[in-house]
Amino acid sequence: MDEDTRDELFHQAKKWVEEAGEIIRNKINDPLTIDTKSDAKDLVTQMDKAIEYFFVQRIKQEYPNHLVLSEEGYGDDVTSMDGTIWIIDPIDGTMNFVQQKRNFAISVGIYHDGVGEIGLIYNVIDDVLYSAKRTQGAFRNDVKLPKLKERLTLEKSMLGLNHYWLCDNRLVEGTEMQRLVRKIRGTRSYGSAALEFAFVAEGILDGYLAISLSPWDIAAGMVIVNEVGGVSTNIEGKPLHILEKNSVMTCHPAIHDQLIQEYIQVGKK
Ligand code: IPD
Ligand code: CA
Ligand code: CA
Ligand code: CA
Repeated sequence: MDEDTRDELFHQAKKWVEEAGEIIRNKINDPLTIDTKSDAKDLVTQMDKAIEYFFVQRIKQEYPNHLVLSEEGYGDDVTSMDGTIWIIDPIDGTMNFVQQKRNFAISVGIYHDGVGEIGLIYNVIDDVLYSAKRTQGAFRNDVKLPKLKERLTLEKSMLGLNHYWLCDNRLVEGTEMQRLVRKIRGTRSYGSAALEFAFVAEGILDGYLAISLSPWDIAAGMVIVNEVGGVSTNIEGKPLHILEKNSVMTCHPAIHDQLIQEYIQVGKK
């Protein structure tokens, strides 16, 4: 994608993200219709659906050749990364949206022929927009985020971890997460994968580990983290497949290999 196209798309996507955020803020105290999806904890509200519809309608009108991959079903059935694809989570952190009315984000990643070109993660209630264009750095609102500092040890690291890492679970069998929790400086669990990616880019988390995430949870975050020199892989250190569910590890490069070798893959066969 050439720079002018990327700039134009960024400008448009940012405008829609900000408009969508304003819609949510204006209706934040309206009654919610809460449905469940795969299980009783997998929530969706009329707002998740309305915001996704807001984006899909506008994208289809303005860019009829672009495809949309999104959580709540208004997008396309995307089977290849060819062309320009908007990967959208209308509300990342729906449980926070329902329970707390804060700590959720709109996440929009734009990929062209498989390459992440644009990432936008909007913390709606705090009115903080994390954004990046490939090769042009990442921003927190209008302030450019510095590259991650060169040196970091696990002892000084703070990691975003969901507590399922510490429950009995087939997926965490063989990992040594309790030992890791003792080793590092601290853990946090924010309940929005997109925001946790953004915090890694900002350097207020040194890494975020997730057992299973969908494309819309990670698409924007990968672009933003990449622009400050962070790395995003699955928990085996292998590349993330943007069209599939993945285990995810996004972090400062200085701790990536040690985390995998000494704590995550340690007991795996
Ligand atoms: C969820 C959040 C949560 C993560 C879940 C995701 P949603 O997204 O990012 O932090 O642990 O795996 O599904 O459903 O609120 O968009
Ligand atoms: Ca969801
Ligand atoms: Ca999500
Ligand atoms: Ca969502």
